[in-house]
Amino acid sequence: MVPDIAERLIGAGWQVSVESSAGAAAAFPDDAYRRAGVSVAPNAAALLSSAEVVLTVNPLDSHLAGVVPEGVTTLSFLQPAQSVEALRLLVERRANVLSFDFVPRISRAQSMDALSSQATVAGYRSGLLAAEHLAKFFPMFMTAAGTVPPAKVLVMGVGVAGLQAIATARRLGAVVRAYDVRAAAKEEAESLGATFVDLGISAEGAGGYARELSPEELARQQEALGEVVAGSDVVITTASVPGRKAPLLVTTEMVAAMAHGSVVIDLAADNGGNCEATRVGEEVEVEGTTVVGVANPPSAMATHASLLYARNAANLLALVGRDGAVAPDWDDEIIAGCCVLKGGEAALAPAAELLGLPHTPIVSRERPGAEGAGS
Ligand code: NAI
Repeated sequence: MVPDIAERLIGAGWQVSVESSAGAAAAFPDDAYRRAGVSVAPNAAALLSSAEVVLTVNPLDSHLAGVVPEGVTTLSFLQPAQSVEALRLLVERRANVLSFDFVPRISRAQSMDALSSQATVAGYRSGLLAAEHLAKFFPMFMTAAGTVPPAKVLVMGVGVAGLQAIATARRLGAVVRAYDVRAAAKEEAESLGATFVDLGISAEGAGGYARELSPEELARQQEALGEVVAGSDVVITTASVPGRKAPLLVTTEMVAAMAHGSVVIDLAADNGGNCEATRVGEEVEVEGTTVVGVANPPSAMATHASLLYARNAANLLALVGRDGAVAPDWDDEIIAGCCVLKGGEAALAPAAELLGLPHTPIVSRERPGAEGAGS
């Protein structure tokens, strides 16, 4: 939460408290929150014991999930498989657990789509990181000392982050190729000035997302991509399939075949990586190529990442409570879609399975502007 948006929430009837230093690394000191009317508590546990709604970026850990009051509503990114212990405690607390990972990709929910806002930051950063690590120009230079060709960038995974990576690399003057398994990605990549690499493998999944490739498809993909990877100065990977480990697109052998001085920026590092050589938060050298396993990419641009996240959260909070009272609009398909637990009951199928609970889906109504993902 950032001070300006907190002030707006207070104007809408909420009381807002933050943990001391919560915004420090994003250039928002405690005093800025105090000036906005926010109370600053010495630590998270002191805050949580009396909170009705808890907003965090990462899900509560088991320790914090154990101190929230009964009936609390939590709001964060959350993949059930990575939070099973905390979810068990939240079931006991009859909590409502909402996750930005499951906000439906519909037009009306775009202002609440934190996956997209953070992917935008990550994609932009990946372009800059690539330019910083490459000991070559991105643009073509015609100088008195001769002409220098532009850098060749390959972006793999053309979702929100990939499109932003393409746009950033293009703005810096690189020649960009892009690859994805969704057919819709071709037109989007081309509209930003990239050339699309078509391997004839289509893997459209549900909700506008990609599905996981079969082992045969994956092998075919890696074989066909080898040459494209080897001919690139920079490879930026952003591929992901919801609820799964990131697909492996670039083997160590493929990295070794790149020219010395090349760079791989792996934005999927936190989720297992798209590159076999990736180590989270580290730079690894493979036969002269640097592989950067970017950990928590949005945190590298914390001020704007926080501002966008706070706006997404404030927009979602408008469906969680009104005039100072917490009353989630369960009838709304956005709340229904992003709900993992409702009053301690498993509203999301994967959560029910992991927790060994019956699946109790929320039946919501559709509203105008509810067309599917990709719009
Ligand atoms: P994501 O983060 O789930 O995945 C990133 C990209 O990786 C995707 O484009 C996916 O197709 C690709 N990918 C997965 N497996 C791959 C493989 N084996 N090889 C190559 N690429 C692979 O995607 P993101 O950014 O969350 O977007 C998902 C969809 O949602 C897109 O269709 C996007 O246009 C749509 N969307 C719709 C919004 C709306 O409000 N209507 C808002 C944001 C996104």
